[in-house]
Amino acid sequence: MIIENLLRETESLRETLIAVRHDLHAHPEIGFEEHRTQKVVREWLHKFGYTPRDSAGTGLVADLCPDSKGPTIALRADMDALPMEETTDLPYRSVNPGRAHKCGHDGHTTILMGAAAALAQCRDTLDGNVRLLFQPAEEGVRGGGARVMVDEGALEGVSEVYGLHSWPAWPKGELRVAAGPVMAQVHTFYISVRGKGGHGSQPQSSRDPILASSHLVTSLQSVVSRGLGFEGGAVVSVCSFNAGTTSNVTPDDARLSGTIRSFSKPTSERVLERMREITQGTANTFGVEVEFEVEEGFPVLVNNSECAEVVARIGEKVLGQGAVSSRDLPMAGGEDFAYYAQNKPSVFFFLGAGIEGEDTPTCHHTDFDFDDDLIPVGIEFFLRIIADRLEDGVVS
Ligand code: NI
Repeated sequence: MIIENLLRETESLRETLIAVRHDLHAHPEIGFEEHRTQKVVREWLHKFGYTPRDSAGTGLVADLCPDSKGPTIALRADMDALPMEETTDLPYRSVNPGRAHKCGHDGHTTILMGAAAALAQCRDTLDGNVRLLFQPAEEGVRGGGARVMVDEGALEGVSEVYGLHSWPAWPKGELRVAAGPVMAQVHTFYISVRGKGGHGSQPQSSRDPILASSHLVTSLQSVVSRGLGFEGGAVVSVCSFNAGTTSNVTPDDARLSGTIRSFSKPTSERVLERMREITQGTANTFGVEVEFEVEEGFPVLVNNSECAEVVARIGEKVLGQGAVSSRDLPMAGGEDFAYYAQNKPSVFFFLGAGIEGEDTPTCHHTDFDFDDDLIPVGIEFFLRIIADRLEDGVVS
């Protein structure tokens, strides 16, 4: 595998890949509905000699050298869009109302398609196999696509898994990677507060769920500041508060919901314990009833240290010394790549996409668009990872 030849191959596909990315951007599909995206990727893979199989319904798994006796390295891209509107006036803006690629998964998919095309040139010369994981539903729909792919055996025979994300909050030209926990355990909570409604002028006859809930919102902010030590390590945010319909009626109930982010099991257990105590205590104080429900989301994403070193080393080669750091990691976002990392040595890394002097829209902002300059960069990372892991026979 001569990396320079492969990079030349990538360069010759540059315009085609940009067109592919814009086509995916114009036709966004949310989790487990990526039928068109799956078809585009499947046809591309066929064209380059792969025999992809469906996975997790709308995802795809393809092996470069399925009969190889050597190790298998997996590369993963997420494919789904978000259920939101696009506000840009890009010529390739979303044609699907209420659907938009606002996390760059159109770019990640294109990068893996480009890597697949280049790697097809060295099918007969590699001492191992490359498994391409085109994954649906990263954005939290029905537990995410990664877990389903793992359950369906997508990691069978795999030695290591690599995945990337573009990140506009960090400067373009930078690689951010770290060993250990890099993204958070996610819990979603729902609190129902049941009081007794009545006339707004007669508080003595009611049990006000709004007052109780307001205290609850404030008290929950003590979970991290008073419930954990100096090292902290959790976020508790109340993100919705719904109660009442008019100005002179005390309602019967109120509903709160929010998110918890943490990086270790003991921390998340402590946070949930304190939240239950505070919720029940506040209910007793105000004479209301509460129900506290928790949904467990994606687990902590823990990067393998050897894989993180591989990516950092490649980052210095691709982006230059000084461009590689672990600044701002871990971060409190959630990512279902965590399920791969629970099963195999894995690393998830970030390519900065923020343009200096500009207020580059962040991921999940309605104005966000993936930066096409990152397509060849992402491909080069994936190709060099494969060269590093398979060419020298490092992985067994
Ligand atoms: Ni994303």
